[in-house]
Amino acid sequence: MSFEILINTLTDLISENEKEKSSHWREILRNKRSFLNFKENYGYGQYKEYNKFYETYHNLMQTLIFGRELKEFNEYKLVKHYYKKFNRQVECDVVRHIFTFNLLNKFRLLKDNVAVIGDGKANFILGSRIINPEIKLFSINLPELLINDLLIINQSNIFSHEEICVVKEEADLEKEHIKLFLIPANKNNLLESKKIDLFVNIVSFQEMNYEQINNYFSIIKSNNSYLYNCNREKKILPDGIKIEYEKYPFDNAKFLFKEECIWHKNIYLSKYPFIKKYEGSHIHSLCKFN
Ligand SMILES: C[S@@+](CC[C@H](N)C(=O)[O-])C[C@H]1O[C@@H](n2cnc3c(N)ncnc32)[C@H](O)[C@@H]1O
Repeated sequence: MSFEILINTLTDLISENEKEKSSHWREILRNKRSFLNFKENYGYGQYKEYNKFYETYHNLMQTLIFGRELKEFNEYKLVKHYYKKFNRQVECDVVRHIFTFNLLNKFRLLKDNVAVIGDGKANFILGSRIINPEIKLFSINLPELLINDLLIINQSNIFSHEEICVVKEEADLEKEHIKLFLIPANKNNLLESKKIDLFVNIVSFQEMNYEQINNYFSIIKSNNSYLYNCNREKKILPDGIKIEYEKYPFDNAKFLFKEECIWHKNIYLSKYPFIKKYEGSHIHSLCKFN
């Protein structure tokens, strides 16, 4: 499928995914065409073109906020090298992902079959592929955001279009040569018991309804997989529903760690006030379901 066909296929799936949107996402995507502009930040991530002048500013702020150790990470060096090649700036959102890749590599989990629920600006997909070209990725999201990701992936030349498939039925998941499966949220149950080794969710459960969160947990449980999950301790959605980390249905999952996430505390900006605190505290954990 060419990139154009992939995008058209996803566009046809937008209306049937309406019910997968929480009140938060209905609000963010009410401007029906915003997701076609991948260079804007509409609440699902930053995207800036590489700029030699701003590079110095980014370097300075990254050391100030995240410390010198970041620059030592192999994951940082690799991601930075490739992002520059496809003319993209490494910003705060990318840095958060680099910390996550470094952590997952420490547990040797950034390999084999990895599913990301709610990526943004393709940061998880691109970084995972850069760090481990052999990885098989499953990206589950609303079709609008999968299109936004695809527009970025197309710029990056990191995947060829022959390696990407929009999943509409179970048989699509059996295609051997595919390295990136794009799964519209309403088809997420197709991932039940599919030997996914790791699921990742970064600041995305916090914006869903409990019905959606519970469904994702039952899919993860059916795979007996690991779950890395970094989300706000509490967040109130526009319809008044309060989403709390402690209410996720972990049941008898075995935790490898659970703590406050230090790279989700401060963010730097390109204008005044330059440094801002993230709202609320973010908890991250790695657990395994059996
Ligand atoms: C705040 S963005 C987070 C983006 C990215 N993970 C990051 O850390 O920058 C939340 C993501 O959750 C996705 N999302 C919302 N509802 C979803 C659903 N029902 N299923 C899967 N993803 C969903 C959004 O489309 C968006 O990509």
